[in-house]
Amino acid sequence: MPRRSRWMHLVTGLVAGVTLGVFLKLCLRSGSRTTMEPCPEAARSISDLDPLNLVGLAPNETVQNSNRTLVFVGVMTAEQYLTSRAKAVYETWGQELPGRIAFFSSEVSRAPDLPLIPLKNVDDSYPPQKKSFLMLLYMYEKYGDKFEWFMRADDDVYVRGDKLEEFLRSVDSRKPQFIGQAGRGTGAERDALALDYNENFCMGGPGVLISQETLRRVAPHVKYCLKHLYTTHEDVELGRCVAKFAGVSCTWSYDMQTILHHNGSGELAYTSRLKTREVHRAITLHPVKDHRQMYRIHTYFKVSLHQSRWSNGICEIVGSS
Ligand SMILES: *[C@@H]1O[C@H](CO)[C@@H](O)[C@H](O)[C@H]1NC(C)=O
Ligand SMILES: *[C@@H]1O[C@H](CO)[C@@H](O)[C@H](O)[C@H]1NC(C)=O
Ligand SMILES: *[C@@H]1O[C@H](CO)[C@@H](O)[C@H](O)[C@H]1NC(C)=O
Repeated sequence: MPRRSRWMHLVTGLVAGVTLGVFLKLCLRSGSRTTMEPCPEAARSISDLDPLNLVGLAPNETVQNSNRTLVFVGVMTAEQYLTSRAKAVYETWGQELPGRIAFFSSEVSRAPDLPLIPLKNVDDSYPPQKKSFLMLLYMYEKYGDKFEWFMRADDDVYVRGDKLEEFLRSVDSRKPQFIGQAGRGTGAERDALALDYNENFCMGGPGVLISQETLRRVAPHVKYCLKHLYTTHEDVELGRCVAKFAGVSCTWSYDMQTILHHNGSGELAYTSRLKTREVHRAITLHPVKDHRQMYRIHTYFKVSLHQSRWSNGICEIVGSS
């Protein structure tokens, strides 16, 4: 009996030891798999992006102590437009914002000369709903407390930084704001868009402005909104999400149509004379389909602004004498 019992002890001990060993080994291995495995080169370069450094924001810069934290502009672009439209935006109006700018594109996008954020698991397919919603989430997570306003822009829009500043400083950014050119659709169209009676949306093209408070309310729910899409219209879905979680609809006023200007001539828009009332009153011009026009428009405003300052100067001199 004692002999057998000793055997039993030995066998039990062996089994327990081996089990424990295998268990520990599995544990350690799965632990090291999640935390220690080196990232592939491409993945590392993205996850190592320093969001502040990327847009030239100092860690101590705040809404209170900097005049370049009024607005963060997120430009939605695609790999095929990085060296044309996105580059043109960055080299023109992108340099004159009362804030910062970054470009959001598909995961595989690379552009060493641009503040570019290739969004994980996002491709360049149309409609860009995932890109748009994940851009909002990124803006909230990385810059949410650094800026008063957030703008969702396309890569074919021209934005006048000086006019944008003047406008934004006149609106209370502490309230949930959702500003743009409102669209509602009519009758059958409304049915197709699946909009409730109290819902509308800001049309994406000419630009959409979102206050910090709106972003704070909406961003944590973008995954929900992405799972509950009713249409293929990215701006309609954003409107639905904002209505649901921020409780506001797109600010509608006649002004918005003139200051966020959309010209319906497609490819031809803003390719001819720029010295018009519409162009001069606008904060944004949409669409600028050919990126070479972006440089032309930029030069036009620089020259005309310079001239108007100069003539204002003369007026002042004449007026004061
Ligand atoms: C932020 O820090 C930099 C470097 O330490 C300093 O030069 C700059 O004046 C600071 N800016 C503000 C607004 O405090
Ligand atoms: C911010 O202020 C500095 C210093 O006063 C000025 O040189 C700069 O042009 C201002 N930038 C903007 C975007 O207003
Ligand atoms: C839109 O653009 C076209 C082509 O440049 C121009 O003829 C037309 O006057 C523009 N419309 C408005 C409202 O600016």
